[in-house]
Amino acid sequence: MSGFEFSPLPVQRVIDPSLEAMPSEIREKYVTWNSSLDADFAEYWYLQAEHIALSQQHIAMTADEALRRAPSGSPRRALLLGAGNCYDTPIAALADAFDSVTLVDVDTQASERTLASLTGRQLGKISLIGADVSGTMGPLLSDIYRLSKEHASYADFAAALTPVVDELPIFGVQPDIGRDYTFVSSQLLMTQLAGLPVQEINVRVLQAKYGHGYRTPAPDAPDAALMKGLSALSHCLQVGHVDYLRRLIADTGTVHFADTSALLVDGKDAARHNLMEYDLVLPQFAARFDMLRDLEIWDWRQRPDRIFRVISLGFTPKPETKS
Ligand SMILES: C[S@@+](CC[C@H](N)C(=O)[O-])C[C@H]1O[C@@H](n2cnc3c(N)ncnc32)[C@H](O)[C@@H]1O
Repeated sequence: MSGFEFSPLPVQRVIDPSLEAMPSEIREKYVTWNSSLDADFAEYWYLQAEHIALSQQHIAMTADEALRRAPSGSPRRALLLGAGNCYDTPIAALADAFDSVTLVDVDTQASERTLASLTGRQLGKISLIGADVSGTMGPLLSDIYRLSKEHASYADFAAALTPVVDELPIFGVQPDIGRDYTFVSSQLLMTQLAGLPVQEINVRVLQAKYGHGYRTPAPDAPDAALMKGLSALSHCLQVGHVDYLRRLIADTGTVHFADTSALLVDGKDAARHNLMEYDLVLPQFAARFDMLRDLEIWDWRQRPDRIFRVISLGFTPKPETKS
């Protein structure tokens, strides 16, 4: 951990080096995205209510199971990855039930907005960590932005970026935020990790700098190698996240995981790159975890024209898979 920052709330806020490695413009984007989720929630809370209630219920069920399994006398520590605005997380109940609750996000301000409604006793158990839970976004995005400044043509940019993407280390580079947590929650986070590089290249580099439209992979395109590398990177980021969850959780603990596997915009299937690769991710969980119950699927009606399909799972680790 590198530094402490002032928080307007009486909670400790630590900034991890993985966050300091992120270009400030991308950190600001996370803040903007969370503010826009906040605005959507304020306007469409009646559409979102079912998703929020189901998410809270599932997180609470898996957290309760962790408390039942925790060895007596051991500290009960909860970790919430990608806590964001915390609407979908029963934060007050978790603070009541656990000895400590650690919230991790690139954007800790979003969590602070929600934490302001907690009691002093609940706040006393909360700490915030500003971190990039992938450990890779800082170096990768810095290279993407630098190479787009250095290369006048998109073809040269794509050629220069391809080896960077192909050689990016993914496993074991995530921030050191502690181990042996009693309960870990990863709620609608993993697809943001996996989708961001492609999104930044499409929006910030292709459209803003080289004036292209949105790119979808094509085998005979001049950037086919880059697109192939980005697709492999997205796979690895998802596998790396499952691996990270296993490293964070105690052998007797439980993990709540939920993410989006489909998106309908105006009734049509939309952008695949920000959706979970279900067939890839489930075997990765199965190799390291046992399921606590059957998976649940529901729709998150975020806005009238935007519906995500959410998959929610509860796990306990296979002890022999600890690394
Ligand atoms: C869709 S939100 C999760 C919903 C959230 N629980 C809520 O109620 O607002 C995803 C969260 O993950 C965070 N996030 C995305 N990528 C991240 C990363 N690499 N490291 C840490 N947090 C990240 C975002 O800032 C955002 O707060």
